[in-house]
Amino acid sequence: MEKTSYNIAIDGPAGAGKSTIAKLVARKLGFVYVDTGAMYRAMALYFIRRGIRPEDEAAVSQAAPGAGILIRYEDGVQQVILNGENVSGLIRTEQVGNMASATSIYPAVRAHLLDLQRGLAASTDVIMDGRDIGTCILPDADTKIFLTADPHVRAMRRYKELTEKGETCNLQEIEQDIIERDQRDMTRETAPLRQAEDAVLVDGSQLTIDQVVERIIREARARGLKAE
Ligand code: DC
Repeated sequence: MEKTSYNIAIDGPAGAGKSTIAKLVARKLGFVYVDTGAMYRAMALYFIRRGIRPEDEAAVSQAAPGAGILIRYEDGVQQVILNGENVSGLIRTEQVGNMASATSIYPAVRAHLLDLQRGLAASTDVIMDGRDIGTCILPDADTKIFLTADPHVRAMRRYKELTEKGETCNLQEIEQDIIERDQRDMTRETAPLRQAEDAVLVDGSQLTIDQVVERIIREARARGLKAE
């Protein structure tokens, strides 16, 4: 498919703030924000509902084509549709996140989502976040950002988010979970999380959200994005 749009790829580990930042950049630039993690989460929900164990690659791979994933936008907010059902409100749990991380290692799962992700970016100005956007999905993205932050800072943010929601949680466990998920996402054979050679590294540990947003917009302007 020929590309007629401007694409920003933003990759990085869990909890680095990708989705918060990508949403704000999208709003400022009038772009569509594509959250690819939500697609893996919707597939994970499908596997959970079918009682499939994440270690069972054959069962996961056989089931994957049965998960019809579609993306829709309501008031600019991405909705994930799984076989006709809007599952956006059901995929933000730790259980689904861990299943998504565990099953996204399989080529059949990644292949199932590749065309959907590329198709969205081909005709629309998007900022797409994930783990392999700059390296695999959109290797020709106009601007590539690798957004990271110290695991302790990421754990603190997550802890704050959960306690504000009234959930009881343990900071050390969260940090351990983040370290394990990073490890799994970075060492898997298929499309591991890594910085593309031409990506700009942004460490958000000591930056405010607004500073990161401004930095990304500056990088995009330096790479041919026309000012509004
Ligand atoms: O960003 P997230 O936490 O919603 O993503 C959930 C899991 O999905 C993550 O642990 C790894 C996987 N994922 C992926 O493998 N590739 C992507 N482009 C996005 C997410």
